[in-house]
Amino acid sequence: MAERKPVIITPEQLEEQRQYMQEILCLPQRPKSYFVVTYGCQMNAHDSEILAGMLRDMDMTEAPDREQADFVIFNTCCVRDNAERRALGNVTWLKEVRKRNPNLIIAVCGCMIQQPGMAEKILKQYRFIDLAFGTSNLYKLPELLCRTLNSDRAVVVVEDEDTIAEDLPVKRLRNDAAYITIMYGCDNFCSYCIVPYVRGRERSREMEAILAEAQQLKDSGVKEIMLLGQNVNSYGKGLEGHVTFAELLRKLDKMGIPRIRFMTSHPKDLSDELIEVMGKSKHILPQFHLPVQAGNDEILRQMNRRYTREQYLNRVRTLRAAVPGIGLTTDIIVGFPGETEEQFQDTMSLVKEVGYDSAFTFIYSPRTGTKAAAMENQIPEDVATDRIQRLIALQDECQKQAMGRFVGMEEEVLVEGLSRRSNTAVSGKGRHGVSITLPGSEADIGQIVRVRVTEIKNNTLMAERI
Ligand code: 5AD
Ligand code: SF4
Repeated sequence: MAERKPVIITPEQLEEQRQYMQEILCLPQRPKSYFVVTYGCQMNAHDSEILAGMLRDMDMTEAPDREQADFVIFNTCCVRDNAERRALGNVTWLKEVRKRNPNLIIAVCGCMIQQPGMAEKILKQYRFIDLAFGTSNLYKLPELLCRTLNSDRAVVVVEDEDTIAEDLPVKRLRNDAAYITIMYGCDNFCSYCIVPYVRGRERSREMEAILAEAQQLKDSGVKEIMLLGQNVNSYGKGLEGHVTFAELLRKLDKMGIPRIRFMTSHPKDLSDELIEVMGKSKHILPQFHLPVQAGNDEILRQMNRRYTREQYLNRVRTLRAAVPGIGLTTDIIVGFPGETEEQFQDTMSLVKEVGYDSAFTFIYSPRTGTKAAAMENQIPEDVATDRIQRLIALQDECQKQAMGRFVGMEEEVLVEGLSRRSNTAVSGKGRHGVSITLPGSEADIGQIVRVRVTEIKNNTLMAERI
């Protein structure tokens, strides 16, 4: 693979975008309100916060829903087929809304657009889309919107560049918890995965920039930060000097932000150093999302995961020894090409052996351009569906058992909102990453509350205040 250097967006390029913002403010046909529709992972959720930040700085207000907005932007995902279909279905539905609001501007951005051939498809099959751009052009929204407003043809821009843009405006979803991207892209090329093709080569932000952002968030009262990257464990690769994720965590831990989390980790890059830092830290939460994908060595090899079942289990044991009671979650794919019933049973036994607090389970979805999509022995849908149902049932059982360890335990909950079931109860996440419901009111939202877990009800933990 040819070496590709990250493209750092310069302050001059950002200034240019600010000028486009000014230019838009002078256009009589400019949209006054916006709505951002987000699909996919936390990375996308954070990209949407940046889109919203730029739109806010163009003097647009957030509409209560997509039907009342002048500008609707879909930030898409393409990691599985259903994410893509849902996005395209919803975009098409908006065509009807435009009959009522002829000035409506429809934009589509993100991973889906970055796929080879998608831009042409949009131009041909989805003629009602006004603007489409890929993941590397996010920072150019002001310029692209300006071009759209001044043109009666669709603006479609996809560049194959690995950009890093600092200091973009951001309108955060929450005041108490915030995302910080620490690295972009992925170099792992797991054989089923489209991400390396649509998010580009792995690149890390400078540590100083991350620390400055964290400090600013702390000063504004944020209680929890979530560090984001496709593979946060390989943070620092390509930066000057010996920069590691463990080192970054050590520095952030000292800053004194009450809660630090991160996502996502690749088991092959999970170092002993990182586990040691977690064991000794005060503020890094005792939780770990460690996608296993499969429990069979041959399937793991075909997936190009570069670890064995035993190596994975070793990481789990080391984590549990260093951080007793740690909350473990995972991602699992069933029905990978060629997966036999016996190989699937290895996934089932691994799930039992680990005892995850929760697992995101997926049916393998072929993605054009990936190695696995060209493999023979694609698994029939009914077989894959049957396997995922058995896996979900097993995980449900294991989850109940795993939750048992919390009953009687003290926890700290960062309250997110009123409970869905009662208006005298609130809920949020404990330090281990599990949802907890406790008595409370709106005044608790955004606060960290100490509780004791009393029981498990419908798969959530119930607690009393202490
Ligand atoms: N099919 C099914 N699941 C996939 N994932 C990634 N690519 C695919 C695919 N082609 C899952 C993996 C990953 C999670 C984010 O999505 O489990 O960890
Ligand atoms: Fe995809 Fe593998 Fe990279 Fe995760 S590590 S984003 S599954 S290629």
